[in-house]
Amino acid sequence: MSATGMTPPRKLYVKSFGCQMNVYDSQRMADTLSHTGYVPTASPATADLVILNTCNIREKAAEKVYSELGRMRVLRQEAQAQGRDVLVAVAGCVAQAQGEEILRRAPVVDIVVGPQNYHRLPALAAAALRGEAVIDTEFPADDKFDHLGAPSPAATRARGVSAFVTVQEGCDKFCTFCVVPYTRGQESSRRVDAIAREVEHLAEAGVREVTLLGQNVNAYHGAGPDGAAWSLGRLMRRLAEIPGIARLRYSTSHPRDMDATLVAAHGDLPALMPQLHLPVQSGSDRILAAMNRRHTRADYLATIAGLRRARPDMAFTSDFIVGFPGESEEDFRATLSLVDEVDFVGAFTFKYSPRPGTPAAARADQVVENVKAERLARLQRDIERRQARFLASWRGRTLPVLFERHGKLQGQLVGRSPYLHPVHAPAPPTLIGEVALVSVTDIGSNSLFAASPPRPAGTPRASRVAEES
Ligand code: SAH
Ligand code: SF4
Ligand code: F3S
Repeated sequence: MSATGMTPPRKLYVKSFGCQMNVYDSQRMADTLSHTGYVPTASPATADLVILNTCNIREKAAEKVYSELGRMRVLRQEAQAQGRDVLVAVAGCVAQAQGEEILRRAPVVDIVVGPQNYHRLPALAAAALRGEAVIDTEFPADDKFDHLGAPSPAATRARGVSAFVTVQEGCDKFCTFCVVPYTRGQESSRRVDAIAREVEHLAEAGVREVTLLGQNVNAYHGAGPDGAAWSLGRLMRRLAEIPGIARLRYSTSHPRDMDATLVAAHGDLPALMPQLHLPVQSGSDRILAAMNRRHTRADYLATIAGLRRARPDMAFTSDFIVGFPGESEEDFRATLSLVDEVDFVGAFTFKYSPRPGTPAAARADQVVENVKAERLARLQRDIERRQARFLASWRGRTLPVLFERHGKLQGQLVGRSPYLHPVHAPAPPTLIGEVALVSVTDIGSNSLFAASPPRPAGTPRASRVAEES
């Protein structure tokens, strides 16, 4: 029902770029605006308010905003020709980084709102409707999530079996290549009880898997009900007790913050999935120091070894930057040898992109474009080979699968393995939202297939079965 009473609901379209935290923020923006009568629409052409939730991490990502805004200008003209108007808002990390500059470059924009201010969106939209251009990129002291309206039960159900929950925001690490500390502000953690309530609410609506999010999620140190600061490992133990929660994940972590409680949680909590994304960026100590990563190659390898001791079936993915200023062929080979030592099963690989205002961008020893491109291609080939090998290793083995949705074929469901591979199996619809054991018979380009129906996951340590079989 519209909270505005007499007026028909206004339509909202949110487009997300960048990381999973933006995806989560987009959902929460929709939640908070739903309390002032905005309902989601599937196309920008039918929207009264379009929000672009932007990413500033690399130059290409930031430039995408302006091509989108070009499209918005056309959209607005078309709407006006039909006698209606559409508000355009820029949210996210480009909004935070560029503020007023966006209004100067793209007059089509009505609202510029930074990631800390989404709870003020209803007021900002009202001001924009009065014809005022609005910028809100302050860093308020309070927790925005306390002020964002709760999702409606229908919105929660629509999120399906797997959901994101942001538990931590911001970053104090200041890696010399990265804009995040400038756009997301200081590191801060939500309170344990607020997170537990949100996860309980999701579980009641049928969510079985929760991924905890943060720019530095394992730096989590939220206030617990006992008044102490809880680590992420302790928070995981609390969330694993919530009825209905079968799987827990977290992203993205910093190697420095993999503390003993979190490593131990991997050994103790069957719900904590044996897959971890742990960005390393480079395998060269010289480059790691220049990046201000505050850990060495040996530290990283020791962390991986500790996690494998706690949970032998762990698989690791990572982020890499090639062509950081001053990176030599020898430094790059150190990255390749680290990839070999850890045997990553996947990775996001990026060419270094100089970002305005970051220390590395000002360095004189930038690596030329064709060297960056050549290193990226070599690294990608190596990672793709490992990814394919890991996938193929499941042929003939049994995996617990959390079923999420109907497949393309009649009578088929699609779920996820503990390692996030999509798994296709003949299965009844009643298995959606359930974990069941699947025997893998075929391998696709990025997914697994089963010829016969799943068996019930009888063991409470379901996620360990793969290792035992
Ligand atoms: N907080 C996470 C990652 C956040 S950004 C961490 O500490 O690892 C996601 C990834 O984008 C980074 O891991 C890095 O690999 C990449 N990235 C960040 N800034 C970049 C830049 N200037 N150029 C290229 N890649 C970059
Ligand atoms: Fe960026 Fe480094 Fe912070 Fe990650 S830890 S968000 S890469 S500054
Ligand atoms: Fe991009 Fe901001 Fe996320 S810069 S990666 S949207 S924190």
